[in-house]
Amino acid sequence: MSKDSITITDNRTGKQFDFPILHPTIGPSVADISSFYKDTGMFTYDRGFTSTASCRSRITYIDGGAGKLMYRGYDISYLAKEKTFLDTAYLLLHKELPTKEQLKAFSFELKKRSFINESMKKLFDAFPDNSHPMAILSSAIASLSAFYSDSLDMDTPEEVMEMAHRIIAKIPTIAAFSYRYSKGLPVIYPDLEKSFVENFLYMLRAYPHNYAELKPIEVEALDTIFTLHADHEQNASTTAVRVVASTQAHPYAAISTGVSALWGRAHGGANESVIRQLEMIGSIDNVDKYIAKAKDKNDPFRLMGFGHRVYKNFDPRATILKDLRNKLVDELDINSHLLEIANRIEKIALSDEYFIKRNLYPNIDFYSGLILKALKIPKEMFAVIFVMGRAPGWIAQWIELKEQPDMKIARPRQLYLGPLERTPSK
Ligand code: CMC
Repeated sequence: MSKDSITITDNRTGKQFDFPILHPTIGPSVADISSFYKDTGMFTYDRGFTSTASCRSRITYIDGGAGKLMYRGYDISYLAKEKTFLDTAYLLLHKELPTKEQLKAFSFELKKRSFINESMKKLFDAFPDNSHPMAILSSAIASLSAFYSDSLDMDTPEEVMEMAHRIIAKIPTIAAFSYRYSKGLPVIYPDLEKSFVENFLYMLRAYPHNYAELKPIEVEALDTIFTLHADHEQNASTTAVRVVASTQAHPYAAISTGVSALWGRAHGGANESVIRQLEMIGSIDNVDKYIAKAKDKNDPFRLMGFGHRVYKNFDPRATILKDLRNKLVDELDINSHLLEIANRIEKIALSDEYFIKRNLYPNIDFYSGLILKALKIPKEMFAVIFVMGRAPGWIAQWIELKEQPDMKIARPRQLYLGPLERTPSK
């Protein structure tokens, strides 16, 4: 028996089974149970994958206890404060931060691909008025596989990078078009003179005859939000992307699946839900009532923007955004009424035994919702903003999976609790 292994005893038979322990560069060790079924004839059961490492990865590291997050070894606060979103996207794709020249070239590659095929407008047209932009976005991203069907094999690094650039470059345009179509507004084409973030805000907000200049702090705030969302290890949407990629489906289809998975309010849809919930609470006088509802076991109500599967101390992204929000309060018109309610909820939750006992702290979405509202971004676009930030991470994870020669199709098993074979009635 190797010392670097874990032994499991089947108490019914006394039989022992040995499984090797794998060692990460940092973080908890991992018991390799890939032979568990072959050895024991049993499956393992892990509801919600709370104890499962589903892949080997070199991209993002999270220490939930210490509130630490790193992309490719760089701490998130360094990237958020010292680098731009495009630096971070480049880092995720190429494993190294870009030089000035590399960053310029990367930005140029994205600009070149920021326009979308004109016939894609028929797709936007087909959606009813007031469709949620996330519905349009996931369909439009999946449709890219039809528009670029010439290079579906992704056999060469050049083809892979072309796909990566296309997705990152076109998502802002698709996102802005999705919103404008959903509101019956004329679309605004990309402006190649503008930076990545400026261009998105321009396409979203501008009227053809009336364009309000952006304040530098607005651009900086959105850039930081994108950076903080750029990757997050094996969360639900990234896992969805990896599962679809493992079937050899086209990357555009895999990324579109990520968009759908992210939309849920337990995940990236939480930022929109935070604002909707604050609006529903409506007054500081109602806060106590809703805190009581959140604590009531028989009430499904949850405080949006609180809690995280991995962070059990604080969410480092939330800490950065809290500072940013405080900075913005002075400079922009943050809705003080909602802010007041949010501050009251935060204060109570941070000192309430229910939340303390369960390690429920404000997460990134608690603060990003208020910041995006201050940037006058419509709340239906909040999850879309999350997608724009997360796209480079999904693509990096897609590339990593494809580069692993022992990659297997994702195919979990189950604990079957349905009926035994039934005799059909005659
Ligand atoms: N409000 C009230 N109670 C909560 C909340 C909440 N927001 N979140 C968790 N709990 C309670 C839950 O009822 C349970 O209590 P008990 O132990 O008595 O049964 C305990 O805390 C553990 O909750 P869980 O559902 O087992 O935790 P999870 O790790 O499966 O879920 C979560 C994590 C983020 C889905 C959950 O905390 C939640 O629904 N939060 C609100 C939605 C939200 O803000 N999501 C954004 C997450 S950050 C963005 C991202 O990375 O996706």
